[in-house]
Amino acid sequence: MSDWWKKAVVYQIYPRSFKDSNGDGYGDLKGIISKLDYLNNLGIDVIWVSPVYESPQDDNGYDISNYRKIYERFGTNEDMENLIKGAHSRGIKIVMDLVANHTSDEHYWFEESKKSKDNPYSDYYFWLDPKPDGSEPNNWGSSFCGSAWEYSRERNQYYLHYYTKKQPDLNWENPKVRNEVYDLMKFWMDKGVDGWRMDVIASISKYTDFPDYPERPGQKYITGFMHSNGPRLHEYIQEMNNEVLSKYDCMTVGEAPGSDSNIARLFVDPKRKELNMIITFEHMNIDRIPGSPNRKWALRDFNLVELKEILSNWQTKLSGHGWNALYFENHDQPRIISRWGNDTNYRKQCAKAFATILHGMQGTPYVYQGEEIGMVNAHYKLEEYDDVEIHNAYRELVQKSKSISEEDFMKAVWKKSRDNARTPMQWDSSENAGFTTGKPWLKVNPRYHEINAEEALKDKDSIFYYYKKLIKLRHEEQILTDGTFKLYLPDHPYLYVYERQLDDEKWLIVGNFSENDTEIEDLRTYIYDKYEKVISNYDQPHTNKALRPYEAFIIKSVK
Ligand code: NOJ
Repeated sequence: MSDWWKKAVVYQIYPRSFKDSNGDGYGDLKGIISKLDYLNNLGIDVIWVSPVYESPQDDNGYDISNYRKIYERFGTNEDMENLIKGAHSRGIKIVMDLVANHTSDEHYWFEESKKSKDNPYSDYYFWLDPKPDGSEPNNWGSSFCGSAWEYSRERNQYYLHYYTKKQPDLNWENPKVRNEVYDLMKFWMDKGVDGWRMDVIASISKYTDFPDYPERPGQKYITGFMHSNGPRLHEYIQEMNNEVLSKYDCMTVGEAPGSDSNIARLFVDPKRKELNMIITFEHMNIDRIPGSPNRKWALRDFNLVELKEILSNWQTKLSGHGWNALYFENHDQPRIISRWGNDTNYRKQCAKAFATILHGMQGTPYVYQGEEIGMVNAHYKLEEYDDVEIHNAYRELVQKSKSISEEDFMKAVWKKSRDNARTPMQWDSSENAGFTTGKPWLKVNPRYHEINAEEALKDKDSIFYYYKKLIKLRHEEQILTDGTFKLYLPDHPYLYVYERQLDDEKWLIVGNFSENDTEIEDLRTYIYDKYEKVISNYDQPHTNKALRPYEAFIIKSVK
């Protein structure tokens, strides 16, 4: 099988927010098809489509009730086949989202399973008896707050759910479950799907003795290390590889909470025949207070030194042992420039600086819809948000346990909530940003008059064209694929500097992550005597005077 994905750039589409073709306020497959030329112009190679299957949408499609049928609001199976064809005819591949750690509670497997202890689907999920006092089997928490167990009267038992109670976890110990998953993968791959993004794949193997977590003061339910990397995880993935993946020339990226760069190798070392790359959370968690009962809502300031340390460690550890997935944004993460940068007076420079640093590394870069035009976080009232994660956390942390004040919670929502990335794509400055002619399911970001794709396409200096250039470099320059990586100035609080090298070719990648000018004394030793500019976000790089706010560039040494 070829490693085509090593030169690819992936574009993630969150279908309900991308483009609505029929005015019902929800994005849909026909909408995506209508924008394939836009994506082709950007130059991306792969589209990862977040779940489009039939679903009650409790967690926006990450709760699937029928894996073989497209959700009505998104269109039909035929639309999906047309999307695959339309993409392929432009040389773009399609990766679907495999959500197989859990299903919806409205999937018929679960509907059957909950009926009795002796029906054929009984052990498709994890069912445990209550403790003698009737309480949950252990103190495991759901990622969306509260217990990970829900009581069901029919069986007089609890079932396990790592996410909402409408997302029961599948029991991968059961070979029938695994085969069901392999079959549904083949179903879509035989229709031309080119690979999978695997939702929380690190969680599919459970510690089936279900021990309690050690107690933590102030926390009744705990979500921690036992929620991922269970004992049979790699056995399952190897089996999936053997049964399905090895039979197709496909790309795989597994979402792997709880992974560090050592664990990553277990997933991605080609010798182990598992996955091509994983999505880690290590670098995205640097702005939360570890161990806080308020979890992601417990904010900590952005620290560039830490970011450099983590990303560089992944570069070094995986070199020769696997492949990185490079990302700052997706449907679960807020907009990077609002989170760690500047989304007002230096919005464009800042977006380009983050892009430069990310796309200069070894790995496959992921661009999340709207990132290429510098979309920014939303700043809404609580009731204007849709995400179940926000509302559950509000109830549990602000109202019930009062571990965070309403004010601090809202600050965290504006900074970190997932809906920041889920506001509709801003296509133009017409009503609702050209996303829909109806009422959008989630309010459009009011800054769409200033920030939209039409505007970006008109401006030759836009973030869009900068991304286009970076993507072209990934296709043409072998050094980006195979070059070694070396971090310089690891402790510098503002400068992000590293070098790639392939044979005698050398590239220096530089970013100033500050709203101020940054003196370059420290940098001077690394600047080549003679160089050519590869790309820069100001007209010419400042290599002998202070770097300007969010200045970023790549230069290559010349003889
Ligand atoms: C990770 C997905 O990216 C997220 O959106 C979802 O809520 C959980 N997994 C559960 O499927």
